Amino acid sequence: MTIREVIKALALGGTALARFLVIGSELTFPPSSKIKTEDRHFTYGSVSDKMIRHRSYSFLTLSAAVLTFLIGGIASLGSLPVPGHSPETLDPPAHLRETGLYANFASKTIDPRNLSYSPQYPLWSDGAAKRRWIFLPAETSIDASDPDVWEFPAGTKVWKEFSFHGRRVETRLIASLGGGEWMFASYAWDADESDATLVPKQGLRNVAEIQPGLRHDIPGVLDCKACHVNRRTEILGFSALQLSPDRDPNAPHAERTSSDMVSLQTLIERGLIRSYPRSWAQHPIRIEASNPTARAALGYLHANCGNCHNPNGALETLNMFWRHSVAENTPSGTAVTMAINRTGRFRIPGEEPGDTYLIRPGDPAHSAVLFRMSSRNPFHQMPPLGTKLADADAVSLIRRWILEYQKEERP
Ligand code: HEC
Ligand code: HEC
Repeated sequence: MTIREVIKALALGGTALARFLVIGSELTFPPSSKIKTEDRHFTYGSVSDKMIRHRSYSFLTLSAAVLTFLIGGIASLGSLPVPGHSPETLDPPAHLRETGLYANFASKTIDPRNLSYSPQYPLWSDGAAKRRWIFLPAETSIDASDPDVWEFPAGTKVWKEFSFHGRRVETRLIASLGGGEWMFASYAWDADESDATLVPKQGLRNVAEIQPGLRHDIPGVLDCKACHVNRRTEILGFSALQLSPDRDPNAPHAERTSSDMVSLQTLIERGLIRSYPRSWAQHPIRIEASNPTARAALGYLHANCGNCHNPNGALETLNMFWRHSVAENTPSGTAVTMAINRTGRFRIPGEEPGDTYLIRPGDPAHSAVLFRMSSRNPFHQMPPLGTKLADADAVSLIRRWILEYQKEERP
């Protein structure tokens, strides 16, 4: 059993906490150490390191890892059933050209059945330019009975292409296999963009220059899942808020839209979505906030932080929720009240205990949210994976929001 397999086992079979402990980090286990997860006990015995080497999570997580370790159980790792995952169906095609994105790969002509779209609050990925397409099988539609958790038909595929400095670098794919199963893959482009081939499950490092001295890593499948697999939905950026035609002009890195892109309104018109709230047709979704800065700040935090920081995931107990719910239509207010003037578990280095707040109005220096998104120290940075550079535009937006935040203000 290799270390990677242990990590995989924990990630797929362990508790959500265990998933966060291992993903993106290099853990090495002492001989015969015992690892406990929610429903299984493993013993891991063939690694000689005496230390847990920990790369990308803070002390809080690390101590939880050690605890998880110490209270470990008895059974041997042996063969691991991974619930609900049949490896055959999880194998992605070897080449991007076999995934159905292109009608003609040589000329890079997109199959017209794949609809292009752009979420109004994109994920920051070190400044990569992105293009996205969704394929919904013929005669199917998205079920929006739960306006926040769209159900996509079996056979749905979504691609996201990343370019740096005008060159395609990778194209990611998420495909619904039906029965709640999803496949995650990425394809790395050759230097001359003549082919894009499947990236190994553990990802690929240093594939392209972001800026001098810094290169882009393609995340491994476990990292994809750290962000994309939660108790709600795997698809993060194809949603009512993200596709609203009432786009936020102040969203950091807002992408240019074109007339061939689908929005929530075109989905409705084309019958590609059903059981949605009737009000969507008249009143496009927007984050209700007291001023444009607050709106953009909350949208940014929703897209870049809310996929982990929400009430239905592993980080529920942190009580810091940045995911915006279109169903409730108030949670941005809740999110803000929960974070404002509240101390969390994290302490800004050099500060006295009790002096770090999640958000401290008027006081960016004592606001953990701003500190962690500004940092790329692996123990502090937020998000913990997926980027090497802090998002300077977003940092200045959140700083402005904290400085301007008025106590009486309620979004
Ligand atoms: C740091 C968190 C994070 C990681 C890691 C990550 N993603 Fe995403 N991904 C997102 C977010 C947030 C969006 C929606 C916003 C956007 O498209 O810019 C997204 C969008 C996508 C989309 C478009 C469909 C959708 O869900 O909105 C695809 C396809 C995708 N990611 C595939 C992958 C694959 C494959 C991997 C791993 C190789 C991966 N992602 C790794 C956060 C992440
Ligand atoms: C891939 C999942 C993930 C994403 C995305 C993510 N975080 Fe986190 N965050 C974590 C984990 C895990 C912890 C708990 C461990 C720790 O503190 O490092 C955490 C903790 C925090 C804390 C400390 C909370 C406390 O109680 O003190 C802050 C502040 C924070 N994150 C801010 C952010 C911000 C801001 C973003 C977006 C820019 C973000 N996070 C995106 C996983 C994530």
